[in-house]
Amino acid sequence: MENRLFIKKSIPKLMIESADDGHGLKRSLTALSLIALGIGAIIGAGLFVRTAAAAANNAGPSVTLGFVVAGIGCALAGLCYAEFASMIPVAGSAYTYSYATMGELVAWIIGWDLVLEYALGAATVSIAWSEYLNKLLGYFDLRIPYEWSHSPFEVSTAGTHGLMNIPALIIVGLLTILLIRGARESALVNAIIVITKVSIVILFIIFGWSFINPANHTPFIPEATMYTDGQGVSHHFGGIMGILGAAGVVFFAFIGFDAVSTAAQETKNPKKAMPIGILGSLAICTVLYILFSYVLTGVATLEDFRTAGKEASVTYAIQTYMTGFGWLAKLVTIAILAGFSSVILVMLYGQSRVFYSMSKDGLVPKIFSDLHPKFRTPYKSNILFLVFVGVFACFVPQDIVGDMTSIGTLFAFMLVCAGVLIMRYKHPDLQRGFKTPFLPYVPILGILVCGAMIFGLGWANWTRLFIWMAIGFFFYFTYGIRKSILNKENKENKK
Ligand code: ALA
Repeated sequence: MENRLFIKKSIPKLMIESADDGHGLKRSLTALSLIALGIGAIIGAGLFVRTAAAAANNAGPSVTLGFVVAGIGCALAGLCYAEFASMIPVAGSAYTYSYATMGELVAWIIGWDLVLEYALGAATVSIAWSEYLNKLLGYFDLRIPYEWSHSPFEVSTAGTHGLMNIPALIIVGLLTILLIRGARESALVNAIIVITKVSIVILFIIFGWSFINPANHTPFIPEATMYTDGQGVSHHFGGIMGILGAAGVVFFAFIGFDAVSTAAQETKNPKKAMPIGILGSLAICTVLYILFSYVLTGVATLEDFRTAGKEASVTYAIQTYMTGFGWLAKLVTIAILAGFSSVILVMLYGQSRVFYSMSKDGLVPKIFSDLHPKFRTPYKSNILFLVFVGVFACFVPQDIVGDMTSIGTLFAFMLVCAGVLIMRYKHPDLQRGFKTPFLPYVPILGILVCGAMIFGLGWANWTRLFIWMAIGFFFYFTYGIRKSILNKENKENKK
């Protein structure tokens, strides 16, 4: 039994498989294009929506320090990710790397956990998209009624109850159709979106700076208390716990840098370019995030983030406090809608890609790797995930799906850090293009910082993660382990 659980894919075989899979993809991406790819996947709802939620519920202006903690955690995990990606430079993700290095059970845990990152991440961003769509419609005096743009667990300040979030479902549906038709964002579209996103962030920082009201930053770290939000959920607010909680919430804003590693096969000199791509995009985003959150929490008040400015907070802050910058509010709204769409597309693509690999390995049913006869895309998988993501997007509040995404990804990162450590001791002689520096400190600190953020996210989120993983174990032990192609091959070889 033990051998079966830790059975590993051979690295040379993986290289051959992935070469077939890639249909001889051209190696054209450079480190710079990888940084662009990373930023395209990273900047999204985490910054433009979750920042306000973390300020409101956890940390007030010290959400800025939450970004520092989350950035440090990501950099540590990113260094470990980069070693994995450079060790096995094939298309894939933590799932593929761990199958070759740590064996099937760990690969399953990571693959299952990545559903939280990709599928629920897509749901979170689609809910954020719905908020900003309402802002855009507001410019034309239109509005989707509260009931049809919120989950049943949300109540407006005027007492209206939500029913379902239709715009969130629509955007996921539209992007799924694009994916089924084989659309992947072209490098050009990605470049345009990245330039737009980064520009609005920089414009907001520059113009917003002079509207910072020092009173909003005082005290910078609020005194530790408990705060009960509009949904009746209580949070640790202020103090160290507040900062850790905020770090866990805004950690969402960093998710996506691992998307860079999926492009390994299309990269020139991946062993060198990969770490630069991963760490470079992370570094740029961290600096932007810290400045942005400092300005946002200085321009609008804590009360705003808890009431009228809770949704589409950036546009709200500009409209309410930055006189003469109505044009910026409009530009931000449009850019955010486009930027969010690209993040959702990357996440839905990542999800179908991970399940495609898992299905090819026999760990999940074949339906997830059935290809469309004309478009050659895993269309059945895309449709099933449309239903799954759609249910969360329609019926679950953003705070819950957002935090589930964060906790799931944090857990995956901890496993990646542990993996790098284990591999160095067990297989020190494997070729590595990039080596995580300062071993064992970097992975250990990575585990500790990511663990601290998980701790900050509170027991409700721990319970959700636990339940999700328990369901995963159930599937693995009743299905995956029996159907695993590698296990079957192994048995046959032994005969
Ligand atoms: N980091 C991505 C975002 O913030 C997931 O939308």
